[in-house]
Amino acid sequence: MEGIKFQEDIYLLLSRLRSAQGEFVSGEKLSRTQKISRTALWKKINSLRELGYRIEGHHSKGYRLDLSPDIPYPWEIYQEGDSIWKNIIYYRRIQSTNTEANILASQGAPHGTVIIAEEQTGGRGRVGRIWESPSRGNIYISLILRPHIPPYLSPQFTLAAGVGVARTVEEITGVKPELKWPNDLLLDKKKFCGILTELNSETDRVNYIIVGIGINLNSDLRDYPEYLRGEITTLKVATSKEYNRNRFIMRLLYNLQSMFVALTEKGFTAIKKRWEEYFCMKDEIVIISSQREKLKGRAIGIDNSGAFLLRLENGSIKRVLSGDVTRLRRE
Ligand code: BTN
Repeated sequence: MEGIKFQEDIYLLLSRLRSAQGEFVSGEKLSRTQKISRTALWKKINSLRELGYRIEGHHSKGYRLDLSPDIPYPWEIYQEGDSIWKNIIYYRRIQSTNTEANILASQGAPHGTVIIAEEQTGGRGRVGRIWESPSRGNIYISLILRPHIPPYLSPQFTLAAGVGVARTVEEITGVKPELKWPNDLLLDKKKFCGILTELNSETDRVNYIIVGIGINLNSDLRDYPEYLRGEITTLKVATSKEYNRNRFIMRLLYNLQSMFVALTEKGFTAIKKRWEEYFCMKDEIVIISSQREKLKGRAIGIDNSGAFLLRLENGSIKRVLSGDVTRLRRE
């Protein structure tokens, strides 16, 4: 399926209908402000109806917007002003938003491009894992960033994105999530969000970074395969409430932008304290597995570059740049 892009005429038409706050707006007025014929207006209204909008039409009163679907069409999550997220593409169904973002970025898609999908048929997690992506009011989003940084700093974008998601969850649900280094978000000790950051670079400069974020928002545990049900949660399950997805995404994009700006303009120290506010493993005994080794020790936290600090059993401190953390027990 083709992606749906931002369309200014749709954005303006919906804004006009919304500003009437449930009242009719005459067809004549609409076609005048939209600078289109009555027939073209009628066609546009019909295409909106096909996308799930409920619009009442009356021969003399005009059109009234009765209901907008909670679907992240680009014009629904677009923000005017200094938002960097101006190029938004929505897919009803896609293999993976990260894969699509990689393709678009390699073709020159600009900094601030957002790829968002209702459902992924091949959602990807870290280290080759699958990211289960049912179409049940969740969020699957990938961002294309073109920061002027050396490649070794790119993992900091994962940490900054984690803070952006944590803050959004706290603002919208009132519940404070936990961050598990480097990229998981937990509620009730169960994962509801993962971040997959992918890098395309030369030796000394980044071409682009893709930050892919999956958030289990309004889904239920029965939407996932049985083997996962004991390990994961969703915001709906954890708080017994459903959330307006478009409102969540707009807040998320706003918070992510402010974290990325802080990171690129002020460096990682601007993010570190905020990350630590959500860090959940301090002083716990953990195992970090990387491709090379497995290390056991007590979690200390992160250093000024975002690397994980582990106190080994012999008392020395090990700086870990990448790996998977498993918690053992609190001692
Ligand atoms: C992980 O915890 O292993 C990372 C999961 C990342 C999932 C997101 S969903 C949107 C984007 N598209 C993908 O295929 N993966 C990321």
